[in-house]
Amino acid sequence: MTEELSKIAEALVTPGKGILAADESSGTIKKRFDSIGVASTDDTRRDYREMLFRAGEGMKNYVSGVILYDETIRQKAKDGTTLVDVMKAAGSIPGIKVDTGAKPLAGSNATIETVTEGLDGLRERLAEYHKLGARFAKWRAVITITDDLPSWNCVKANAHALARYAALCQEAGIVPIVEPEVLMDGPHAGHTIERCYEVTEWTQRTVFRELYDARVALEGIVLKPNMVIAGQKCPKQASPQQVAELTVKCLKATTPASVPGIAFLSGGQSDEQATENLSLINQIGNLPWNVTFSYGRALQAAALKAWGGKTENVAAGQRAFTHRARMNSLAALGKWNQ
Ligand code: 13P
Repeated sequence: MTEELSKIAEALVTPGKGILAADESSGTIKKRFDSIGVASTDDTRRDYREMLFRAGEGMKNYVSGVILYDETIRQKAKDGTTLVDVMKAAGSIPGIKVDTGAKPLAGSNATIETVTEGLDGLRERLAEYHKLGARFAKWRAVITITDDLPSWNCVKANAHALARYAALCQEAGIVPIVEPEVLMDGPHAGHTIERCYEVTEWTQRTVFRELYDARVALEGIVLKPNMVIAGQKCPKQASPQQVAELTVKCLKATTPASVPGIAFLSGGQSDEQATENLSLINQIGNLPWNVTFSYGRALQAAALKAWGGKTENVAAGQRAFTHRARMNSLAALGKWNQ
């Protein structure tokens, strides 16, 4: 089983390829569609995602896997082919978001701190998703930085849930993407890059300890971390070189070399910033893991805008998507330059 899992994990982080996170929940995709004035309906969500999955070169050359939302893994393209078959034809591995969202954490500062839910019934859901074609999954834990947060309770509860999720995935023959996200768009101005380093290292160390306790095979996971970066509200922003150096320093301190790959989230960075930082991280070199992208916004924002909900703009949307995918592929090889 571990051999099968590690083959999938390695395929997800094939050099020069990365993951498309297209698993926005119904609420999140509505927000994205609101920004371009398009109503979020079954059909518009299907049309938009079908456009991305049929983006020819953009998918075939640069995308190893796609994370889907429950609705999408069951949806059919306009011509009746399942969207899963559309992406498989483009050489992508289907993945599925299985958490049910970040909920206020009881006993903590519940207006800020959350714990990600979704463990109830997960074994059965994973069995069904496997039948529908999913070979990897995603669970996102969210950690918010303030002067005195996160609390240990929040870090520990989220790390424990990630480990229980990861163990259930592996039991089902599904590679878990383990995503502990330390937010960069938190409410706090004192959120310097140094503070982000401290919280990210603490979080990742706790996650790996929980993964060990839960007997998760590290060869069969992909880590999806945040980069170590100053918060968006922090007046003192760090240089891309500093982001790359502290991110690599942190990962080297926390992430065993048996993990085959690291695929970053973009977390609200601009498209170019996410590409530049990834390239600089890879330019540091001699990393024990393949390091790539698992971007949502930083891969889709330009395509969403170019599409604007209009059939006549599908080709323009696909061109915009392919461009960002190519730039991020170069970055995953450390070859993107301004
Ligand atoms: P962003 O790249 O937009 O942060 O999304 C990635 C993701 O899947 C978050 O869970």
